[in-house]
Amino acid sequence: MRVIIFCYLYLFAILGSGEDDGISDDAINELKSELTQEEIDQLLGNSTSNVETASIGLFARLLRMMYEIKEKWLDVPLDHFDLFDNRTWRMRYLTRGSFFKPGGPLFVEVGGEWTIDGSSLVMGGLAELAEEHNGFLVETEHRYYGKSLPFGKDFSTEKLRFLQMEQALEDLAYFIEHFKSATPGLGNSTVIIRGCSYPGMLVTWMRVRFPHIVDISYASSAPLGVGLDYPEYFEVVNDVYANVSTNCIETVRRGFNQTMNLLKTDDGRLKVREAFKDWTCGDIDEMNSMAILGKIIVVLNVMHDPSQYEEVACLTMAIDEDELQSFQLLANFIVLKSKHIASCMSGDTDPEEKRNHIAWSYQTCTEMGTFLTLNRKNSRHPFEMDLTVEESLEECGKDFKGLVTENILREGIARVTRRYGGRKPKVTRVVTIQGTHDPWKHLAHLEDYGPEAPVWVVDGSHCSEINAQSEDDSEQVIAVREKVKRLISKWIKEIS
Ligand SMILES: *[C@@H]1O[C@H](CO)[C@@H](O)[C@H](O)[C@H]1NC(C)=O
Ligand SMILES: *[C@@H]1O[C@H](CO)[C@@H](O)[C@H](O)[C@H]1NC(C)=O
Ligand SMILES: *[C@@H]1O[C@H](CO)[C@@H](O)[C@H](O)[C@H]1NC(C)=O
Ligand SMILES: *[C@@H]1O[C@H](CO)[C@@H](O)[C@H](O)[C@H]1NC(C)=O
Ligand SMILES: *[C@@H]1O[C@H](CO)[C@@H](O)[C@H](O)[C@H]1NC(C)=O
Repeated sequence: MRVIIFCYLYLFAILGSGEDDGISDDAINELKSELTQEEIDQLLGNSTSNVETASIGLFARLLRMMYEIKEKWLDVPLDHFDLFDNRTWRMRYLTRGSFFKPGGPLFVEVGGEWTIDGSSLVMGGLAELAEEHNGFLVETEHRYYGKSLPFGKDFSTEKLRFLQMEQALEDLAYFIEHFKSATPGLGNSTVIIRGCSYPGMLVTWMRVRFPHIVDISYASSAPLGVGLDYPEYFEVVNDVYANVSTNCIETVRRGFNQTMNLLKTDDGRLKVREAFKDWTCGDIDEMNSMAILGKIIVVLNVMHDPSQYEEVACLTMAIDEDELQSFQLLANFIVLKSKHIASCMSGDTDPEEKRNHIAWSYQTCTEMGTFLTLNRKNSRHPFEMDLTVEESLEECGKDFKGLVTENILREGIARVTRRYGGRKPKVTRVVTIQGTHDPWKHLAHLEDYGPEAPVWVVDGSHCSEINAQSEDDSEQVIAVREKVKRLISKWIKEIS
């Protein structure tokens, strides 16, 4: 069993935000004429087939049309470290120049282990900063993800060797240099880059490697301290529920254990299937026990939960202390949560998602590690099972033709740490936000890196302040958005 780490960031919350987004009726009519009946059905939620991935693609198209976002491509060297290898690949990027005035800054949203969709160019802090400073907005796609495929659909192990963080940083430097010189009015512009989660690491390291190219970085939830395993992940998950009440975490613990026990017999399996059948995590009749338990863990994850979510969640789980009830209470909660906020569909039916998945798996197996382990003896988590580093490494070996071994990964991790300085890098003009409820937080330094590199810890989950405003935001999340904007504006003024 492998729990997907970092997960994908969900964009759907913003569709539902009722704010006036200034879309004219003309634009909407134009949209309608552009869409096929099938797409309209998907948008209205009538289609049941693979809605999630289909509508993400559709959503990206809608955004592009409404906000004049352009899709472009740049030829970038495949191997930045071999002068004699002149092969290139096509990097996809999205631009929005509607706020730009010549001389204004360049704002780059750095893409990570997903297909870019332009949403960050429209909503949230980066777009607001660009508007305020007459900046140019760009979103870049990471090599081997989305449509930025150096070897097309060939994801064989040999072809993945150019998927390295150091190459990705060079891509960004190359991109910024070329984009600035090719765009009138950007030649001397200040460059601000932003990234959340894995890209949060990249933008921090851009200030280590290319301070002459990138002036300011904004990193959200950047877990810089890569290492072999990361048992603390599920300790944070545990604590989030435990901090609401003992009753709540006990229900999770007992409910999970009872589910495990039930899955051992035919009768029990029927009971489990019945209790979970309405979840959105796939057809439970097609899943084996490990897959079912894996999905339950994914749904219990708190990484993308809105602030205070568990307070409410625990109410549904803590009706009484009757041991026998725990299984049913947990099942009810999982079904409910899977429908609302937890994304537990595996995207493996969509070829693009599948490729994104392989690429991410390769990165974790070669340079990132941080396998989410479960260890009943040495760490606190509510799952009555163990999951070792060895098991994860074994999967890496299987997935990548035996090329990836523990030694390779150890060396990869050591290089990354040596190159960029681990969890407390020596940087300036980097602002970092971390969340108290973010299970990745223990891979981050939770105090300032230095006088010009503040780290602000807020009451929130993973990348919570990056998401568009929502009524669930904690006061700290709301406040920190403004604080970040003020600091970046101050730095921009100091530079120019
Ligand atoms: C989608 O479903 C709704 C409600 O079931 C229905 O009113 C609507 O006509 C359907 N739309 C299409 C395009 O079939
Ligand atoms: C790339 O290198 C090869 C071999 O050195 C050479 O024949 C070819 O013209 C080069 N291609 C480009 C686009 O420079
Ligand atoms: C950038 O600044 C330099 C020095 O002030 C100036 O000579 C040059 O023309 C500027 N370039 C652009 C593209 O504005
Ligand atoms: C849970 O509560 C403890 C004690 O107040 C606190 O130190 C810890 O940060 C909390 N953990 C989470 C994830 O909220
Ligand atoms: C899990 O269930 C088994 C079998 O009923 C029981 O022996 C064990 O004590 C339970 N573990 C926990 C932590 O509740």
